[in-house]
Amino acid sequence: ADPDPLLDFCIADLSSSPSFSSFPCKPASNVTSEDFFFDGLMEEGNTSTIFGSKVTPGNVLTFPALNMLGLSMNRVDLAPNGMNPPHSHPRSSESGVVITGKVLVGFVTTGNVYYSKVLVPGQMFAIPRGLVHFQKNVGDKKAAIITSFNSQNPGTVIISTTLFGTQPSIPDHVLSQTFQVDSSVVHSIESKFGS
Ligand code: GLV
Ligand code: MN
Repeated sequence: ADPDPLLDFCIADLSSSPSFSSFPCKPASNVTSEDFFFDGLMEEGNTSTIFGSKVTPGNVLTFPALNMLGLSMNRVDLAPNGMNPPHSHPRSSESGVVITGKVLVGFVTTGNVYYSKVLVPGQMFAIPRGLVHFQKNVGDKKAAIITSFNSQNPGTVIISTTLFGTQPSIPDHVLSQTFQVDSSVVHSIESKFGS
């Protein structure tokens, strides 16, 4: 989905600001083999989070060789019962493969149809661009997934924090009207997301 490259490669110079969705290139004379390899997905993420999950990104911001390639991957670790909460990627479709564990994968279309399946290692899933989706560990052991994207910087909008964890917060009357609940319910949810 990202723009087509005009060069063989363009290792991102992350100290410069991006323009037209890409970073300027690091000077070719400074590029080595090391630039094209990334160890960041080797280690299990720390799943001691409120959701029992951790997403480790391998995108242009962590792996600068992906600059201008329109590709990236994540590692998602899920503790037993852990969940990667409902979210969407504004700039990318997503594909994934379960590496270990038993994972419920679900997404919702723009017409509010819910599709889902429980996957075991080796099975893949597809999430169309921009649609809200989640993964939940429904087994009794740890689970891990590798996801891939047709963007070097897919972006992630997490539904819960995008409404209840903003800085500054969205006015109470907007959230209580949105969900048709009174503001005590809004406050209770906000207190969990630090807004
Ligand atoms: C999983 O949904 C991910 O975005 O890596
Ligand atoms: Mn995702």
